[in-house]
Amino acid sequence: MLGCEVVREAISRGWEHWAPSRGEFDLTDPVSVAQIAVAESKFDACINCAAYTAVDRAETERDEALALNALGPAYLAAACLQAGTRLVHVSTDFVFDGTASVPYRPGDPTHPLSVYGESKLEGEGPVLGSGGNVVRTSWLFGPERGGGFPGAIVRAARAGRPLRVVADQVGTPTYAPDLARLLIEMAAQNAAPGLYHAAGPEALTWHAFAERAVRACGLDIEVQPIATSDWPTAAHRPAYSALDSSSVSPFGWPYRCLDGRRKTKGQRLCLGA
Ligand SMILES: NC(=O)c1ccc[n+]([C@@H]2O[C@H](COP(=O)([O-])OP(=O)(O)OC[C@H]3O[C@@H](n4cnc5c(N)ncnc54)[C@H](OP(=O)(O)O)[C@@H]3O)[C@@H](O)[C@H]2O)c1
Repeated sequence: MLGCEVVREAISRGWEHWAPSRGEFDLTDPVSVAQIAVAESKFDACINCAAYTAVDRAETERDEALALNALGPAYLAAACLQAGTRLVHVSTDFVFDGTASVPYRPGDPTHPLSVYGESKLEGEGPVLGSGGNVVRTSWLFGPERGGGFPGAIVRAARAGRPLRVVADQVGTPTYAPDLARLLIEMAAQNAAPGLYHAAGPEALTWHAFAERAVRACGLDIEVQPIATSDWPTAAHRPAYSALDSSSVSPFGWPYRCLDGRRKTKGQRLCLGA
């Protein structure tokens, strides 16, 4: 989802770029990742959007999640350091346990509840240690991959399926094209090394997010609020994982965020009020 948007943003700026498929560049293979260090013409920046993102499956595929989310960024950090290439790596709000009541700041203590969160946290260390940037984000949505969560909700609503959505988990939905623009901006402006939080400006429950999506599409359909306990999943998720994005305000954040509108495949993804 995010990688496509980064490519789009790079193209719109006329940046030369290489967006390899998994076959050309396997993040779990140090030899493959070393292509960055031995490339004939040096890359100015590397923006890593690749990850193991199947949060529930990670509970039973721990090794795969760690290989991609923990070891992969370590290989990348070493290759970028050797090449003198700036590394901008993406991480997650799921590094937190959700016991906070105000948006998390980058320095707040971490305590992941899931294998996915743990693996992503482990990947942050080598990137930070190499002088790169780690940008944690939350609840991505956008035109790609069927529109993410709001896209799935709207399809279900249009198909007449009853909508039951968790109302006791709060996060900060983030429009993927906006995050892509930020990542490129950080690379362009040589952001100071370190950890940043970048998420949408509004903290919402999944239920409120779903209602927003349904109403924005002009559908008058009830979204039934349910508790996390009514929707059991393999991985535990933080009850509250809103992120405080003030660390990226020097880059002009927030951009369009929840007001983001783009026509894709005849469908307008619109989550403005
Ligand atoms: N989605 C969210 O709500 C969310 C929230 C917070 C943080 N994040 C973070 O944001 C970043 C982007 O997430 P996303 O939702 O855009 O992810 P995504 O849509 O699941 O994309 C992950 C990408 O990683 C690629 N990949 C998988 N294994 C690989 C390997 N061994 N080598 C190279 N590439 C590989 C996948 O390739 P294929 O296309 O071949 O499968 C896919 O293109 C991730 O770091 C994620 O942890 C996401």
